[in-house]
Amino acid sequence: MLIRRLIQSDRDALFAIYGDAENARYNFYRPWTIEQVESHIDAQSQIDVDSPGIAVMLAALLQNSDELVGCVQLTNVSPDDRQSEIGYSFNRSYTGKGLATEAVVGVLGYAFNCLGEHRVCAGVDTRNERSWRLLERVGMRREAHFIDANLESDGWSDDYVYAMLDYEWNRKYASTI
Ligand SMILES: CC(C)(COP(=O)(O)OP(=O)(O)OC[C@H]1O[C@@H](n2cnc3c(N)ncnc32)[C@H](O)[C@@H]1OP(=O)(O)O)[C@@H](O)C(=O)NCCC(=O)NCCS
Repeated sequence: MLIRRLIQSDRDALFAIYGDAENARYNFYRPWTIEQVESHIDAQSQIDVDSPGIAVMLAALLQNSDELVGCVQLTNVSPDDRQSEIGYSFNRSYTGKGLATEAVVGVLGYAFNCLGEHRVCAGVDTRNERSWRLLERVGMRREAHFIDANLESDGWSDDYVYAMLDYEWNRKYASTI
C-alpha cells in the first residue's frame, strides 16, 4: 500500500468514495458532487500540513496497480498537546480485505513516528460496527461512549471515542518497524 497526498487525477476515485451515499451514512455529510470533489482536491493541494487544526486527506493506493482504494484523514486538533484525530473512508468494492486496516496503521505510524504525536483519537457512530472493529483491530482503545450525542432526522445517535497513545503504539508496533 502506498500513502500520499491527493492530486488532481484522484478526482474520479475520490468521487467513488465520497459520492457514495452508503459511505456517508454514519458520517454527517451529504454525498459529495463531482464539483465538491474537485474543490476539495484544490483546497487540499494548498494546505500547509503543519498548520494547527488542518485536516490532511491522504490517498491509499494499491502498490501494484496504483489504484486509489481509500482515504485516511489526519487532523492536528491540538498541536501544543500533540493530539490528532484520524478518520477514513474506503471504496466499497475494496472493503473486507484488510486494506483500510493497513492504511490506518500506516497513517498512525506517520502520526507517532514522524509527527511525534502523543495521542491519536477517533470518533465513531456506535452503529458503524465496521469502523469501530477496525479501530480495535489496529489497537485503539475505546475510551468513551457518548449517549444521545447527535440529533438526526430519525432520532438520537451515540458516539464512541477511541484513542491510542504514543507508548501504546510503541508497545504494539515497535517490533514491526
Ligand atoms: C470503515 C471502513 C473503512 C471499514 O472497512 P473494512 O473493509 O471493514 O476494513 P478493512 O479494509 O480493514 O477490512 C477488514 C476486513 O478484512 C479482513 N481481513 C482480511 N485480511 C486482512 C488483513 N491482512 N488484515 C486485517 N484484516 C483483514 C478482516 O477480517 C475484516 O473482515 P470482517 O469484516 O469480515 O471481519 C469501511 O466500512 C468504510 O469505508 N466505511 C464508510 C466510511 C466510514 O464510515 N468511515 C468511518 C468513519 S468513523
